Formats: sequence, structure tokens, C-alpha cells
Amino acid sequence: MKALVLSGGKGTRLRPITHTGAKQLVPVANRPILSYVIDNIINVGIKEIGIIISPETGEEIKTAIGDGSSSGVNITYITQSEPKGLAHTVVVAREFLDDEPFVMYLGDNLLGCGIDGFIDRFTETDSDAAILLKPVDNPSSFGIAEVSKDGRILSLEEKPKKPKSNLALVGVYIFSPEIHRAIDAIKPSPRGELEITDAIQVLVSEGRPVQSHMVETWWLDTGKKDDLLEANTTVLDDWIKRDLSGEIDEASQITGRVNIAKGAVIVNSVLRGPIVVGRDAVIKDSFIGPFTSVGPATKVNKSVIEHCVILEGAEIDHVKRMEDSLIGRGAKVKKCHDKHEALRLLIGDDSVVEI
Ligand code: DAU
Repeated sequence: MKALVLSGGKGTRLRPITHTGAKQLVPVANRPILSYVIDNIINVGIKEIGIIISPETGEEIKTAIGDGSSSGVNITYITQSEPKGLAHTVVVAREFLDDEPFVMYLGDNLLGCGIDGFIDRFTETDSDAAILLKPVDNPSSFGIAEVSKDGRILSLEEKPKKPKSNLALVGVYIFSPEIHRAIDAIKPSPRGELEITDAIQVLVSEGRPVQSHMVETWWLDTGKKDDLLEANTTVLDDWIKRDLSGEIDEASQITGRVNIAKGAVIVNSVLRGPIVVGRDAVIKDSFIGPFTSVGPATKVNKSVIEHCVILEGAEIDHVKRMEDSLIGRGAKVKKCHDKHEALRLLIGDDSVVEI
């Protein structure tokens, strides 16, 4: 079995963070989302991984992920010149996929579990497709499945205006080579994309074996700020181990699961986990509360922060209290020390500032 990971597209929903980078590389607990995806694939023993990239962000993804040799796998990069839909990526990757079954994994989806059980059941049941489902509160934002009481899939629809259920398609699919024929039979959707949901519907309509499984753990489609903060909270809560490799002075107090990378410096500060602090970060005279990721080479000075994601090279200085915030790479948030308390802002397109 091979794997096809989708890391192209435009990432418009996480602007402005993804104006300057690929959304699949946005870090959760200081690791790119895409790294968790690749780990999940490697853990089931798949050796041939194709990654779909776009011309705009492809190089950045190659640099971050590499050729797989350090993990004993082969990574092939496949450029999709325009984001014409999930099923279109399968067309673009046809030569790589050859005549083998494959896992298709969306590079911006974070799952709280491995995919081994899912793959085993697909292989045992000799199916043409297997999908993962999870109930959601906003079904119009996802591919939605209508399932009978005995678990059979009755219909599938992409981002329906009038959803027939609240069961969303999670971004991990398994296909037999039959999917290529199904994709050839579909037309672009109203949003102009070749939808994988429509191709699976073709298989369902033909009465071919399509399995569905419920995801029992958490699943995060990390497209938006609040999703990303939630993903960060969940990963810190579930996976972070205490490791104090950085330099911590005697005046500082570190409690709970706090992971401080080598090269980071903590001076006269209180850190209450779960928290990660990246390499070369400097935290001085500050309080960092639970569920915060402090990125590499950031500076936090005389500030109170909780439930935030601070990306690489950002600076937080004299900020009385900051919560629920996502701060982009190299961004600065600082108190102005002159007498009249004016706001002075330099804010990128699509930014949000709550005062
Ligand atoms: O997250 C689950 C949802 O993912 C499913 O419920 C939907 O049925 C499915 O269509 C998909 O919907 P999204 O609107 O969230 O897909 P998005 O455009 O965000 O793309 C998902 C990933 O695939 C993302 O990493 C970008 C990549 N992609 C997307 C397109 C459209 C490509 O590589 N090429 C593309 O042409």
C-alpha cells in the first residue's frame, strides 16, 4: 500500500498566518501538522509516500519534511499546478500511485489516534474504499455521509446546504485502484473542484464495497484560528512529556508537563504546564499558563500569557495578559511606554486585533 498526502491548496482560512507559509506547516505544539500526518503513515509500515505540493509553498514543504531517508521511507513530491480539488490530486498522482491501493491523507488534518486498525479492516474486507466519520456541529462545512442504522453508507455530499446527517468525512481515506475509474466519471462541483466525496458517491451508487468507521478519539481539521488553538491544547494535553533541556535559573518555577527545548533560557518566570518552549526562546520575568506553545527563537518579557500559540521569532514585551491568541512568525506585541496611551499598529491583511 502507498500513501498520498495532500499539501497543496491555498489555505485561505488561516490568513494571515498562511499568507507567508503553507497551512500544513503551521505548528501544533511546535511541530508542523504535516509531521504528525507523516508519523501516522510511517507507523503503519507504509514505505512509499507521495506528497502533493503547490508551486507556491512546495519548496517550503520539501525543506521541512525532506526525502524520508532518515525514517527509512521514500517521499516523492508531486506538484499540482492549481488547486482543482481533492480528486484532482489523485489524477495528478496517477503515475506514482500505479495500480496499488493507497491511503489518502489530508495534510491539515490532525487525528488523536493511529490509522492501523482502519487499514487492517480495509484489507480484511477487500473493499474499494474506506472512510472515517465523526459527528460535527457544523455539517455544512464538511463532506457529509448519510448512513443506515446497520452502518451502510446511503449517500455522500460535499458541504451540503441541507445536511442529511452530522457525520463528517474525516480527511483520511483508503482506496483500491477502482477510485481512478470513479474519478473519471465525475465533473467539477459548483465550487469548481473535482471532489473526492463525489467520486466515492460513484462507488456507493454502483453498489461497490465502501466501508465506514467512526473515529472515537478527537479529530481536528485545523483550518481556522480557534481550531488551531484547540489542536494545540489537545496535543499538549495528550502527548507532551516533561523535559527540561533548556537553561532555567533558580528564581523560576516550572510545574506540570513542561517541555523546554535545548538552547531555550528561562529567567525569573513561572511556567505552568502543559507547555512547550522551542529552542533558543528566551522567557524573562513572565508567567506562561497552561496550553501554550512558545515557538523557537521567540522572546517573552514581563508578560502573562495563557492558551496561546506563539510562532517562531515573535516577541511579546510588557503585555499585561494575553489569552486565546495566535501570533505569527516574527510578529511583535509590545507595550508602548510613552505618556498618551495610543495604539500603534502595523497589521497584515485579514488580521484580527481585539482590544
Ligand atoms: O477536513 C475534512 C474535509 O476535508 C472533508 O470533510 C471534506 O469532505 C473534504 O472535501 C475536505 O474539505 P476542505 O474544504 O477542508 O478541504 P481543503 O480545501 O482544506 O483541502 C484539504 C487538504 O488538501 C489541504 O491540506 C490542502 C490540500 N489540497 C486541497 C485542494 C482543494 C490540495 O493539495 N489540492 C487541492 O486541489
